[in-house]
Amino acid sequence: MKIRSLLVGLVAVGLSAAAVAADPIVIKFSHVVAQDTPKGKAAEKFKELAEKYTGGAVKVEVYANSTLYKDKEEMEALQLGAVHLLAPSLAKFGPLGVKEFEVFDLPYIFDGYEALNKVTQGAVGQQLLAKLEPKGIKGLAFWDNGFKSFSANSPIRKPEDLKGKKMRIQSSKVLEEQMREIKSLPQVMAFSEVYQALQTGVVDGTENPHSNLYTQKMHEVQKHMTLTDHGYLGYAVITNKKFWDGLPAEVRTQLDKAMKESTVYANQIAKEENDKSLAAVRASGKTEVYAPTAEEKAAFKKALVPVHKKMESRIGAELIQSIYKETGFDPAKL
Ligand code: LMR
Repeated sequence: MKIRSLLVGLVAVGLSAAAVAADPIVIKFSHVVAQDTPKGKAAEKFKELAEKYTGGAVKVEVYANSTLYKDKEEMEALQLGAVHLLAPSLAKFGPLGVKEFEVFDLPYIFDGYEALNKVTQGAVGQQLLAKLEPKGIKGLAFWDNGFKSFSANSPIRKPEDLKGKKMRIQSSKVLEEQMREIKSLPQVMAFSEVYQALQTGVVDGTENPHSNLYTQKMHEVQKHMTLTDHGYLGYAVITNKKFWDGLPAEVRTQLDKAMKESTVYANQIAKEENDKSLAAVRASGKTEVYAPTAEEKAAFKKALVPVHKKMESRIGAELIQSIYKETGFDPAKL
């Protein structure tokens, strides 16, 4: 059969026979969220397109929900070449020594997806991805998720309501400072452990976009959630540079095309997926979803924006300014 139809397929996608003569190249793509999330769906889209465009020369295995690696392990595995693609949240690059990515964690730095995409899809985003190369990592794309809400077991109307609460955060010094700024107690924890920590009271609350909260069932163990939109959570898709550069050129070209199209898809569905999850949380009746008034939101902003200045020496004043310039954010205008 199959040789003939395979060859026809190859010609169709422009790959040489040499590229697929052997067994398919297996690309392991590991991530920590559920499949039914913006990142989970985009990873599946990449698999579909990569396999199609390479005519089967590449097989992508997607491991969702921390089934292959958890947060910290996945970065180490990528550097060792045990896994080939990851899409860690931008808040998880600090331990790798690339502190600049924590700029995305600054509270209220993005007013919405439009402002965010000016950065991620523009020159500043490209400069940030280039910072990964000395670590042996190649940044392929930015994938959107969404804006975070705070959740806890007691109502959250003002920043003081989180005082003294143990709040789970991702491994970002900016997020640590954000929580300290409102006198709550930040606890860094792998994503896979959050549900249980909330259920057993190891932590009191957390922050996440709705898609993560809902698909991990956190709403079942958090009685209150407030739509603060106080920060952004999104991803950089990364690969082991040596692995990527070592792929046959024609395969890489097709994979780049698949990545480009999956990125468009990821960023198209992100808001919609989060809106759907929010509606599902509301419908569950398990968490009271509170939409703060303009004054209440302003109070959160006022309390949290000083984190920008405090984190300047870690992230770089110039980088923060370049983002202000792209988005028009002005901390003086609060
Ligand atoms: C988290 O740990 O809360 C997120 O980074 C999970 C994810 O990948 O969206």
